[in-house]
Amino acid sequence: MKQTTDFLKMKEKNEKIVMLTAYDYPSAKQAEQGGVDMILVGDSLGMVVLGYDSTIPVTLNDMIHHAKAVKRGAKETFIVVDMPFLTYHLSVRDTLVNAGRLIQETGAHAVKLEGADEVTEHIAALTRAGIPVCAHLGLTPQSVGVLGGYKVQGKDADAAKQLIEDAKKCEEAGAFALVLECVPKQLAEQVTKSLSIPVIGIGAGIDVDGQVLVYHDILGYGVERVPKFVKQYHSVSPFMIESIQAYAQDVKNKQFPEDKHSYTMKEEQLLVLYG
Ligand code: KIV
Ligand code: NA
Repeated sequence: MKQTTDFLKMKEKNEKIVMLTAYDYPSAKQAEQGGVDMILVGDSLGMVVLGYDSTIPVTLNDMIHHAKAVKRGAKETFIVVDMPFLTYHLSVRDTLVNAGRLIQETGAHAVKLEGADEVTEHIAALTRAGIPVCAHLGLTPQSVGVLGGYKVQGKDADAAKQLIEDAKKCEEAGAFALVLECVPKQLAEQVTKSLSIPVIGIGAGIDVDGQVLVYHDILGYGVERVPKFVKQYHSVSPFMIESIQAYAQDVKNKQFPEDKHSYTMKEEQLLVLYG
């Protein structure tokens, strides 16, 4: 299994890091079988698995519940768990207690939290306590209300400079990696060059140290529309719906179950049964 130091080495060797989200036992098992370097139990589970329209309603207990299942499915892969909305903004003590639960109760290896500014103090405290932290800048979905929607971040020079400064602060605070979401590729390249920790992009172009995407998005599984930055490798939903329709038809038409799906009794037992 790769560790935080391996990801640092991968950056040095210009070897791309592959990250994918997973939310339960089968998706984690598939992610591991597919050979990803790192699994993210993202709070995007609020949208793709729980049907909320943002990540805001996701709770710490939701994250723990799903991360436990992911761990059971991917025992040999480095697992990062999102700290959900408002679980790392109160006291540093609260942050430590919450992150401690995420790590201890699930067996995940690191936490991810969004933002810089006041958040860097929490990154530092977690790192000092022995919990590896992945930072997350650019489009930070937990702040969608403040950002005014899911928009590309850092498009003008001032915002871009600020983002580079924030990224450096996250590194200084001890983050082992940075997820950079939905920023112009030129800015992502600059951030990547400015940091010695790996930058994992999502909607951040090619000139970063790795990529992360959402499991349901790359598979076309239960998602209606996907953002521009997603590459969809298949659309599995139609296959799944067809299978369910065929099953429903078979039951209605009395074509399921067949003999091969059925259990039978021995002749002598039947004699007793029928009398
Ligand atoms: O929750 C999530 O899936 C994420 C990724 C999109 C980076 O934070
Ligand atoms: Na997230």
